[in-house]
Amino acid sequence: MSKPKVVLGVSGGIAAYKACELLRRLTESGHDVRVVPTESALHFVGAATWSALSGNPVSTEVWDSVHEVPHVRIGQHADLVIVAPATADMLAKAAHGLADDLLTNTLLTARCPVVFAPAMHTEMWEHPATQENVATLRRRGARVIEPAVGRLTGVDTGKGRFPDPAEIFEYVRRVLARGAAPQDLAGQHVVISAGGTREPLDPVRFLGNRSSGKQGYALARTAAARGARVTLLSANAALPDPAGVDVVHVGTAVQLREAVLKAAADADAVVMAAAVADFRPETYATGKIKKKDGENPAPIALVRNPDILAEISGDRPRPGQLVVGFAAETDDVLANGRAKLARKGCDLLVVNEVGERKTFGSEENEAVILGADGTETPVPYGPKEALADQIWDEVVRRLPAR
Ligand code: CTP
Repeated sequence: MSKPKVVLGVSGGIAAYKACELLRRLTESGHDVRVVPTESALHFVGAATWSALSGNPVSTEVWDSVHEVPHVRIGQHADLVIVAPATADMLAKAAHGLADDLLTNTLLTARCPVVFAPAMHTEMWEHPATQENVATLRRRGARVIEPAVGRLTGVDTGKGRFPDPAEIFEYVRRVLARGAAPQDLAGQHVVISAGGTREPLDPVRFLGNRSSGKQGYALARTAAARGARVTLLSANAALPDPAGVDVVHVGTAVQLREAVLKAAADADAVVMAAAVADFRPETYATGKIKKKDGENPAPIALVRNPDILAEISGDRPRPGQLVVGFAAETDDVLANGRAKLARKGCDLLVVNEVGERKTFGSEENEAVILGADGTETPVPYGPKEALADQIWDEVVRRLPAR
């Protein structure tokens, strides 16, 4: 089988140095990468680096090797084109169909999935001109990864940061795996909770659970690759922020409830994959609880936490939105799952069996997706990503047509 052909376009921003890592990950995982930098990208990283890391020739102009018609062939033969970093200038050129160098020509001839990973200062990203260009590109089917929030060049902090190259690689891998499949979540806002809440006893101790957050993060990554706008509410998951996903970090069930209600106000679907503590300590000690010689500790009084899934299922923050819950069961999995689906009032319930070594922290999962409409979709043991895609299949089937 021939290697998938990826064109890595690089435009002139400081994040070009981070694209070297993306390139390395792509080549090491068996992709044939042709780097097409712009002239200004070479101010940041030279042609020798791109050529050495890709093992392929590098040029910026259409005038090199003219007999091979590179301005047409590179785009035509690609399985995926990613422009990373994409500057405001590059987005403008692409949106308007300009073709004044090899990369912009390639963008016009590519018929494969095209991905832009913008990186720029917040003001440039937020400028209406850039936003309109991004909207134009998305409308035409290109994928534009939302930049991350964080440290920018110099002392500035804000939206516009180039996402972690390892996460851009993950994004690219998923888009390539989907091939010609449509972006069936494009235009949809999905909210996903992930991880496990921690209910503090004092400044150093908490009641928690063993959820790793991997299933919720797999849901966020797969939804992004299917074109959704994704808000990930992450409760104590020690995982990197997925590229293009808006990540909100929370600690407790009460904080998660607030974050869910806020994010769900304009969401088309809400997936509660987080393990939410059903109880929290009644009191919080502002100072560390100390042991006393010869005395047993005082019992910990617990109070109920709000049931977020039941609350939003019964009173949807946005009318008509789809709500998906998870259930971890040890016995009578299906019967308990059906009863829980009815009790919570959600549209879909993903039921998995938990045990000693099952589910927690693992890369794989096995589940049955129950529908309030009576459907029952078993998903065999496999990567959490495969289960995530099956859940989105069920969601897409039920979303009102746009
Ligand atoms: N959940 C929630 N708020 C809670 C507890 C759970 O939103 N306070 C959500 C979880 O995110 C998950 C689903 O509810 O999607 C199932 O949680 P689970 O703890 O299994 O359900 P319970 O009703 O607590 O049932 P059980 O008695 O089996 O613990």
